[in-house]
Amino acid sequence: MGNIDTSLGFDLEAFWMPFSANRQFKSAPRMLVAAEGMHYTSHDGRSILDGTAGLWCVNAGHRPPKLVEALKKQIDTLDFAPTFQMGHPGPFIAAQKIVEIAPPGFDHVFFGNSGAEAVESALKIALAYHRAKGEGSRTLLVGRERGYHGTGFAGISVGGMVNNRKVFGNLLPRVDHLRHTWDLEHQAFSRGQPEWGAHLADELEQRIVPLHDASNIAAVIVEPVAGSTGGLIPPKGYLQRLREICTKHGILLIFDEVITGFGRLGTPFAAQYFGVEPDLICFAKGVTNGTIPMGGVLVKKPIFDAFMSGPEPAIELFHGYTYSGHPMASAAAIASLDLYNEQKLFARAAEIAPYFEAAMHSLKGFPNVIDIRNIGLIGIVELAPRAGKPGTRGYETFVDCFRSGVLVRPAGDTLAFSPPLVVEKPHIDRMVETLGAAIERAA
Ligand SMILES: Cc1ncc(COP(=O)(O)O)c(C=O)c1O
Repeated sequence: MGNIDTSLGFDLEAFWMPFSANRQFKSAPRMLVAAEGMHYTSHDGRSILDGTAGLWCVNAGHRPPKLVEALKKQIDTLDFAPTFQMGHPGPFIAAQKIVEIAPPGFDHVFFGNSGAEAVESALKIALAYHRAKGEGSRTLLVGRERGYHGTGFAGISVGGMVNNRKVFGNLLPRVDHLRHTWDLEHQAFSRGQPEWGAHLADELEQRIVPLHDASNIAAVIVEPVAGSTGGLIPPKGYLQRLREICTKHGILLIFDEVITGFGRLGTPFAAQYFGVEPDLICFAKGVTNGTIPMGGVLVKKPIFDAFMSGPEPAIELFHGYTYSGHPMASAAAIASLDLYNEQKLFARAAEIAPYFEAAMHSLKGFPNVIDIRNIGLIGIVELAPRAGKPGTRGYETFVDCFRSGVLVRPAGDTLAFSPPLVVEKPHIDRMVETLGAAIERAA
């Protein structure tokens, strides 16, 4: 019979939930059944303030009417069409719109369906690029401790979250990792970018390049702001330093902007916020406002051009997905980007970010709060773990907030807010008050 929840009236057993404690969840489900604007509705009819933009993706809030209309129109017109040696208008128009808001020089887009596929595609493009340039020995990929790049084998190989790696055996060979950039002693309660830690980028030049030799290194991949590991903000000057070292040694720099893309920091991409130009940018999530899965890679002209030198009838890159540039996803991207532009949503995020910062830091001094960090519309509270029971305090706080009508994202003993960019000050007040009360109760 499985696990029937009578209040729901359907069986919960068959769905193997991702990144979830299945048995724990199914014994006391938290089910969302509808959404509009800044709020979800739970199955028991409560309004839940969405403090996490779903999973860092619903940047314009839930179900904006223009986006809903665009999707209805698309399904009534063209459901699916292939993009292998065929075309339909959607991905061409969507790619152009993404290029228009990207940093200068990023003039091509490769589409997949998720952040993981964006990462996989970027790493493959990096490897194939070096080979096309006659530097095929550059095969080593450098990630970072605590990095999260999705759960494909490539993503977990360059990623640095141990639970995502430890039981899966064969990861990609030829990978190294930089150390992560968080340091409680030197950075606790920093507002925005920590002052301390730019020198951590030097590990690339001081350890990794001498160990492997630059002629063997293809790319460094980092999240400009590490999200899933508990929100690590790059120290001032760190990304600049990484860029300089990569340039000096001919190593491609990949920014995984799956959470930072599309306005999270108040600029279209984090590359613009930090004034650092990578060579490839991975994106997903906000590109469609979370409605239809889509991800992709923004590619700079010299990299794209390196593939375009063979005979014209030759396929230049043997890579792609059945749903690369899917009509529904493309329509969602076009409508989302139009909406972001019409509502000046990225500027709005920048405008409200100082209020959000002050609100988040008002939780300093609450029980067990050992760090608060923030940038743009990302705010993290880190709690001291309970002795021998890491993660329990964070999880309890998250459940307590949900019961009180606010969605916050737990990662171990950190709690992250990343609200839709349409968030208003009263929403922020409610999020922070609710989290504060829950932290007090989890003491
Ligand atoms: C930085 C980063 N990269 C990649 C991913 C993976 O995206 P997806 O779950 O769409 O594969 C995520 C998801 O949170 C992410 O935060």
